[in-house]
Amino acid sequence: MKNRVQALVGAQWGDEGKGRVVDVLARNVDVIVRYQGGANAGHTVIADGKKHVFHLLPSGMLYPNRVCIIGNGVVIDPAQLKSEVDDLSPPPSEIGSRLVISRGAHIVMPYHKKLDVLSEAARSKNSSPIGTTGRGIGPCYVDKFNRVGIRAEDLASPTVLERKLRLNLEEKNPILERVYGEAPADFDEIYATAVEWGEFIAPYLGDSTFEIDSAIRGGKGVLFEGAQGTLLDVDHGTYPFVTSSSCVSGGCCIGGALGPGRIDRVIGVVKAYCTRVGEGPFPTEDRGDIGERLRRSGAEYGATTGRPRRCGWLDLVALDYSVRVNGLDVIALTKLDVLSGLDEIKVCAAYRLGGDAAGATKIFPNSAEKLARAIPEYRTLPSWKEDISGCRRFDDLPRAARDYVGFIEESSSVKVGLIGVGPDREDTIVRDF
Ligand code: GDP
Ligand code: IMO
Ligand code: MG
Repeated sequence: MKNRVQALVGAQWGDEGKGRVVDVLARNVDVIVRYQGGANAGHTVIADGKKHVFHLLPSGMLYPNRVCIIGNGVVIDPAQLKSEVDDLSPPPSEIGSRLVISRGAHIVMPYHKKLDVLSEAARSKNSSPIGTTGRGIGPCYVDKFNRVGIRAEDLASPTVLERKLRLNLEEKNPILERVYGEAPADFDEIYATAVEWGEFIAPYLGDSTFEIDSAIRGGKGVLFEGAQGTLLDVDHGTYPFVTSSSCVSGGCCIGGALGPGRIDRVIGVVKAYCTRVGEGPFPTEDRGDIGERLRRSGAEYGATTGRPRRCGWLDLVALDYSVRVNGLDVIALTKLDVLSGLDEIKVCAAYRLGGDAAGATKIFPNSAEKLARAIPEYRTLPSWKEDISGCRRFDDLPRAARDYVGFIEESSSVKVGLIGVGPDREDTIVRDF
C-alpha cells in the first residue's frame, strides 16, 4: 500500500476541519497518533448525525479496532481526557487495548491553567493579548522545556509525583502570590487529584515510540493528526500570536518519534476561506458583511471556547507558505459548500507590504509586524449559486466551483485530493486521495 505513513496538518490558523478529514482517512488506516498540542484543540467529527468534539483523543477513535496514540509531544489535561473517554461508546473497558498514552507526554496541572488565564489577563491589561484558550498549554510547555514538567508516567508513581509537585509549587506559588496577588496552590489538593488521575491513566500508559515503530514495520497504515495550524506554529507561525507547539508536519517527528524519511505523504487541510480565533494579524479578515456571512454559513464558532471566529477570504500567499514549510503533497479542501450563493468570490493573490511604491509580493512575511501591515491584493473569481452539499463526485460540482478548486491547485502547485461539501462524514468528494 502506498502512503502507509501520513502526516495531516492544518494549513491555516486552525479549525480547517482536520477532525473530519482524519475521520475519512481513518477508514483505511490502523493507527492514529496525536503528536502535539493539548485540549486547546477541538476537532469535530459528525458521524451518523451525531457530533463528537475531540480535544485530546485522536479523531480516529470512533472506528473500532483502530489503535489511537497520544504521543510524547502532547500535553494532557487528564480530567478532560477522562471525560472524552467516558463519553465514548463502547465503554472504556473495551478501549483499553486501543488507546496508548505515551509515558513521556506532559501533564497540564491546575496551576498551568491558572497561570495561563492570569498571564493572558495581564497581557490584556497591557493591550497585547494573545487570546489563548486558557487551557494551560503555554505554561505546561514552558515547564517541559525548563525540565521541571510532570509527565504521564509520574502520575502513576506517587513518590516521584510528590517530589516533582513540591518542587513546582515552590516556584509557582511565589509567582501566584507576589506577581498576581492570588492564593497559593494547595499541595494536598493537587496531589490527591493527581493520584486519582494516575489511577485513571495507568492502564493506558505505554511506549508510544515502540508502538509506532512496530506498526510501521508491520506494514500498518499510520496517520499523524496535527492540531492547530501552520500559522499558529511556535516557530513558523505569526509569533507571538501562536500556540506553544510545533504544528507543522515536522512536529510529528518529535512528538510522535518518527524518522523524517518514513513519512510517505503530507496532507494539508485547507478551508475554502480563512478563519482565525484569538489575536494576531490576519490580512484577509473581513469585519463587514462578508465576514459575517462566512461566520453564519460556516457556523464559525470555536469548538473549544465557543468564541466567534474571525473570517475572511482565502489567502493564497499564506497557503503557498504553508505548502513550503510543511512540504504538502496533497490538499484536503473543506467547507467549499459555505461559499455557495455568494455574488462573487475573492482570493488574496499577493500582499503589498510597504505601500504602493514597493510593489506586491507573493512571499509570506514570517513576522507579525510585517504581516499586520500587509494589504491583500485580491482576484475576483466567478461564484456559483447552487447548493453543492449533495455532490459526491467532482464532476457533479458547478463549473465555477470546479474552477475555484482548479485555481487553488494551480496557485499552490498541489493537487486537491478531497473536498468537503458539508460537515457530515458522507458530505465528501474523494478525488485522488
Ligand atoms: P479542526 O479543529 O480542524 O478539526 O476543525 P473544527 O472541528 O474546529 O472546525 C471545523 C468545523 O467545520 C466543524 O464544525 C466541522 O463540523 C465543520 N466542517 C468540516 N468540514 C466541513 C465542510 O466541508 N462543510 C461544512 N459546512 N462544515 C464542515
Ligand atoms: P484546532 O486543533 C484554532 C489559538 C488560540 C490563540 C492561540 C494560542 O482545533 O485547530 P493556546 O491556548 O494554544 O495557548 O492559544 O492559538 N488556538 C487555536 N485556534 N484552533 C485551534 O485548535 C487552536 N488552538 C489554539 O485561539 O489564538
Ligand atoms: Mg478546532
